[in-house]
Amino acid sequence: MKGTTPPVVWANDHIQIIDQTLLPTEVKIIEIRNAAQAVDAIQRLAIRGAPALGAFGSLALVVALDEVQPSSLAEAKSRLEECRTLIGDARPTAVNLRWAVDRVIDQATNDARDLTSLRTALISEAHAVAAEDEAACNEIGRLGHELLRDASVIGTHCNAGRLATAGTGTALAPMYAKAEAGEPLRVLASETRPLLQGARLTAWELDDAGIDVTVVPDSAMASTVLSGQVDAYIVGADRIAANGDAANKIGTVGHALASREAGIPFYVAAPTSTIDIALATGNHIEIEQRDAIEVHEIGGSRLTPQGVTASNPAFDVTPNHLITAIITEAGVLRAPFEDSIAEALSRVGSP
Ligand code: MRU
Repeated sequence: MKGTTPPVVWANDHIQIIDQTLLPTEVKIIEIRNAAQAVDAIQRLAIRGAPALGAFGSLALVVALDEVQPSSLAEAKSRLEECRTLIGDARPTAVNLRWAVDRVIDQATNDARDLTSLRTALISEAHAVAAEDEAACNEIGRLGHELLRDASVIGTHCNAGRLATAGTGTALAPMYAKAEAGEPLRVLASETRPLLQGARLTAWELDDAGIDVTVVPDSAMASTVLSGQVDAYIVGADRIAANGDAANKIGTVGHALASREAGIPFYVAAPTSTIDIALATGNHIEIEQRDAIEVHEIGGSRLTPQGVTASNPAFDVTPNHLITAIITEAGVLRAPFEDSIAEALSRVGSP
């Protein structure tokens, strides 16, 4: 597919990404060569999706280091410390970004004895982050496929596919597995106002893969679910608290409520790197508030009257009791999530 181009590619001295703000109209690869370009790409959602942000943020450390041409190991380490916040905090909700930036800096600065070995260690740990995410996507796809074997019409929200990860996606990985197995499948992708990740990105990548996808207005999704037309729901996550409360793209909780009312399963698919064990509940998850202009305008055209205000929270938190199971690379986790999450993290060797 056009979309088999991975969303993040390391090109020896710079990063190449597909500018996701332009999809599906234009498939444009842009080059990221310094920290300011990396932060800008993250903040305007040229690169997006929690695991892809982790993979990208890891490599952004390398270009941020090259940019300042440090003359000593101490200078390089101080630049990386600066980037821990500059890049790691560029968006607040997806924990994979902060997790990956911390992991890569800590590992590389521990291992390095000189400037060359520091740069090599950064690149190698960044590649490890991406490779582990690709493997996690495969396992999530396999486990999700088993759970969704009898479901042929599946709802999803936002984009949690190839564009959002270093592999085949989280919520979309089971769709690819079902399609590969030749099982009947129709995906309902809610459009995901205001930035339309469902209508633009999920529709683009699934259509490109030959998967039957129908875009549904956000406002039509609840009635579609309640009328019995959907067999199951699966979404990604940006941060999952220790009790299983899951932050994902704004609007997700509405789909979870409709699924509960309709009696269909509501699955959250995410690698264990999306779990923030330090947060007891979803109430502690910081929700990114984005510029109101994204609500006021579509494609540069003003929708709302001049002078009115708009609110633009980018994520919401689905409470754990609305989640049937959390599908991770460490297994399918069910309530009580405090226990199943703690056990999964100990299986993957996370604290
Ligand atoms: O604002 P975005 O587009 O980065 O939001 C992305 C989502 O909410 C995804 O569902 C989530 O990051 C999971 S991606 C595998």
